[in-house]
Amino acid sequence: MSKATSNSKIYNQSQNEPFSSVLEKNLSRRTVVRGGMFSAMALLSGLTLTGCNSDDNNDSNDEVLESIALAFESIAASRTDACAIAAGYTASILAPWGTPLNSTASAWDADGNNTFTDQLNAVGMNHDGMHFFPINGSSDDGLLVVNHEYIEQYALHPAGATTDASGNRPVAEVRKEIYAHGVSVIRIQRIDGVWQVIENDALNRRFTSDTVIDLAGPVAGTSYAITPFSIDGTKTRGTNNNCGNGYTPWGTYLTAEENWPGYFKNDGTKTEDQIRLGDFGTSTRYKWDTAAGDATEVDGEFTRWNVTATGADATEDYRNEANGFGYIVEIDPFNADARAVKRTALGRVRHENAVFGKLTEGEPVIFYTGDDARFEYIYKFVSDAKWDPADANSSDPLATGSKYMDAGTLYVARFDADGTGVWLPLTTTSVATDGKTLGLHFGTLAGIIINTRGAADLMGATPMDRPEWGAVSPINGDVYFTLTNNTKRTEANAANPRIDNDYGHIIRWSETGAAAFEWEIFVFGSNDGASADINLSGLTDLNEFASPDGLSFDSRGILWIETDNGSDVADDTNDQVLAVVPTSLPATAANGSTPVISADNQAEIRRFFVGPNGCEVTGVAYSPDNTSIFFNIQHPGNWPYTTDAAAVTPDGTTVRPRASTVVIQKTDGGKIGV
Ligand code: FEO
Ligand code: CA
Ligand code: CA
Ligand code: CA
Repeated sequence: MSKATSNSKIYNQSQNEPFSSVLEKNLSRRTVVRGGMFSAMALLSGLTLTGCNSDDNNDSNDEVLESIALAFESIAASRTDACAIAAGYTASILAPWGTPLNSTASAWDADGNNTFTDQLNAVGMNHDGMHFFPINGSSDDGLLVVNHEYIEQYALHPAGATTDASGNRPVAEVRKEIYAHGVSVIRIQRIDGVWQVIENDALNRRFTSDTVIDLAGPVAGTSYAITPFSIDGTKTRGTNNNCGNGYTPWGTYLTAEENWPGYFKNDGTKTEDQIRLGDFGTSTRYKWDTAAGDATEVDGEFTRWNVTATGADATEDYRNEANGFGYIVEIDPFNADARAVKRTALGRVRHENAVFGKLTEGEPVIFYTGDDARFEYIYKFVSDAKWDPADANSSDPLATGSKYMDAGTLYVARFDADGTGVWLPLTTTSVATDGKTLGLHFGTLAGIIINTRGAADLMGATPMDRPEWGAVSPINGDVYFTLTNNTKRTEANAANPRIDNDYGHIIRWSETGAAAFEWEIFVFGSNDGASADINLSGLTDLNEFASPDGLSFDSRGILWIETDNGSDVADDTNDQVLAVVPTSLPATAANGSTPVISADNQAEIRRFFVGPNGCEVTGVAYSPDNTSIFFNIQHPGNWPYTTDAAAVTPDGTTVRPRASTVVIQKTDGGKIGV
């Protein structure tokens, strides 16, 4: 979610918009870009090929892929206190906020009276990114790992957040809030067709905003990371504002820290990176810092949210605490004793998610990440280590994570107006647009990582319309990214061609070399009633959408698009999930041989699911056999009413809202979408 936790100010003052372009240039390019580059059309003629994300230990991407077509009808818009789903499907509640993971937690209390100890041992709030890790390849048994991005204080506590006469928050509430953040690892099984949480499973686990986590990569062990809690700078506590996710080819989970700067305050002089990241104001989002000094405080658990320099050095105050946040964090869900690890080499920004690129034996492993704020950038990390398929079955997955994610090169994207792009390296020897090296600007690689945005500014990256999730096609390796919206854009560039971009768009590219790519816009969001110069993809009332956010390919090549509605589309429908198979789109004269969505083929993008009033639909996960798909309902207004996610909360009835996973199955037990 971003509406509640993002900061609407624009922190990118670098004015990197060197590629101003008229819209027509971009549109006409669609007919020529990448012509003949891909084998997508071969699929349509009945050929098969092997998925590129060969991944033996957690997904079924190594199955033979065939051309597929969606076999459900687009559903109507919906604005009710219920989920709506395509005909022939069911939608059920699974693991809502407060579900006990072990017997230490009491059952969820509908009046909000659960304790912080309950919350520490129960599913967190406001579910976001997630992944299903099958156990022994099963499609009926596995670990669902779920992000909990932020909280709704009004729902978490009996009567919302309270403060004492001095304006300080009570410890019991603060701890409950800290523990409602983070990540849940949940053993789930499908028993008689019904998915359920296995309470007290040994692998059930919570990571919160207070859990001890290791630092790895360039920042670890440097002066930037020294805190009173970690004098040698090798660990931190907590993962925070966990938005989108990823997973690795070696079977671990990745969680992305997004709008974490707002959890900190700085009453003194802000550092360069703090200014560039935004927030770090004079109060914290939930005022956790106001519990500092309580007699029960452990290791500065509340004090640390105040990063004001007050002591003689970084061992005497928490000035460096925030340097432990802003990362992609790796979790081994199958080892309940292993600490999570923050992979600092992938940059320190407001990370949305992380997705790995096409895997090739003997080539580097690539991860793509977006920095979700207006005019921010898209990044990729390229490992020094070359991919060894044997690592997919590593017996020490976090060591494999270190092999591929701690040493490598971080790049930022520049999208040029001719449909090509350049990956700009962020290294100490990279020469910035001012003629100086990044080493001269930032000293070490750790210095570059701490101020990733500043380094990207200096290299001339392209400011985007809020990069959210990335997804990689298992069929041809194309990379797709949602650019959710940017109503502050007053000057277009080719990759972000609409000023005052209310509706957002999805861009895609293919790598054409180690540091080069070719790109095009796949679909433009719009209200169906918008004028033709805005509704550029010809959307109708059956697939109009705004603010694309969550984005994921399943193992068959179906692209699932989730929305975080803004704009007037919210007057027409609640947030939703749409599906499209990019490699099965019919080519027309208007859209060339590698089709994008246009008025001629827009019916191929179909509305599959709509969430209840007030919610955002987040996160996507799949059973390996694709007979179950999991979505998350974040911050619903007056839902769920029963375990049937499609049951409407009756008029006049008010329920304490619970963010929840929703599992969707076909009534005939078949595969989703087809
Ligand atoms: Fe948490 Fe950018 O969405
Ligand atoms: Ca969003
Ligand atoms: Ca409309
Ligand atoms: Ca998001």
